[in-house]
Amino acid sequence: MKHIAIIAGDGIGVDVTREAVKVFERAEKVYDFKLEMTHFDWGAEKYLTEGVTMPEGSLEMFKNEYDAIFAGAFGDPRVPDMKHAADILLGLRFGLDLYINLRPVKPLHNNLIPLKGRTTADVNFVVFRENTEGMYVNVGGIFKKGTAEEIALQEDVNTRRGVERIIVAAFEYARKHGRKRVTMADKSNVLRYGHDLWQRTFAEVAMRYPEIENNTQFVDATTMWMVLKPDQFDVIVTNNMFGDIITDLGASLQGGLGMAASGNIHPGKVSLFEPVHGSAPKYAGKNVTNPIGAILTAAMLLDYIGYSEAANGIEKAVIDCLAVGKMTRDIGGGLSTTDMGDAICEAMK
Ligand code: IPM
Ligand code: MN
Repeated sequence: MKHIAIIAGDGIGVDVTREAVKVFERAEKVYDFKLEMTHFDWGAEKYLTEGVTMPEGSLEMFKNEYDAIFAGAFGDPRVPDMKHAADILLGLRFGLDLYINLRPVKPLHNNLIPLKGRTTADVNFVVFRENTEGMYVNVGGIFKKGTAEEIALQEDVNTRRGVERIIVAAFEYARKHGRKRVTMADKSNVLRYGHDLWQRTFAEVAMRYPEIENNTQFVDATTMWMVLKPDQFDVIVTNNMFGDIITDLGASLQGGLGMAASGNIHPGKVSLFEPVHGSAPKYAGKNVTNPIGAILTAAMLLDYIGYSEAANGIEKAVIDCLAVGKMTRDIGGGLSTTDMGDAICEAMK
């Protein structure tokens, strides 16, 4: 039996996690396995009342007792600096060394693609976002704060080991999934040191995968090509910050943030799965939000822990629902959050 931690978090995180849990329960029945789900009340409310974000000992607990973690979303207007969100989300990513942020860009219905004349055959790639380094390490400082001479330094940390392991993960994925090409998005024309390292490492790793095409692009061009010629992409590998940016664009190519799934992965270790969207406080508790991103994220989690048949079945159920117009409002339909979740459960044979 697999042990899953469920952290619904804040805002619509709660609404969409409820639907994801329904799908987990449905998958248990249809595919005949058993999950042990343990819920954690981490989020803004706990932080505001108890001063606790991620309780001490949590990382060890997850490493020792869990197979995967599902998280909804974090963010609350009562915590303007988002301290709890950074502590929990970034704390898990860094603390569990989840170096792969895997974000598929795969629209599941033609109508969801905002690009003129494009179909699902043209947009189908995955982004490998480095998830433990770069500008997210928070190395730096402020000098002469509040004065006219203030200096703020925010370092961009790129290590050979960190860069190599994400590039290797991208090529391994391409090999395993029969993808033709790996594209690296960098900014080596400007970031002379850090991205020199990315360029050299990419060239070296690419040589170990002669059957897979490779190319590199400057990330500004990548954003352009994602819109103009998305069919050129199979696997994109990039750093933490660029990956953050291009995956919001990637989400819009598949129908918006409500549709996008993601996994924070360290192969072989307890990993974290969360939809790409945030907590959208103004829609919280109104039963209007789109649970599909969270449900596809649940499918990614199941795939990761070995239930790939269930994962495929969930994706197929989503496709079947969309095909008959069962959609939430953000993507042009009329279903509530709970009705969408129910429809997907129903479609899982
Ligand atoms: C994401 C989010 C996070 C990030 C925030 C909430 C820290 O935007 O998962 O893409 O920047 O990584
Ligand atoms: Mn983001």
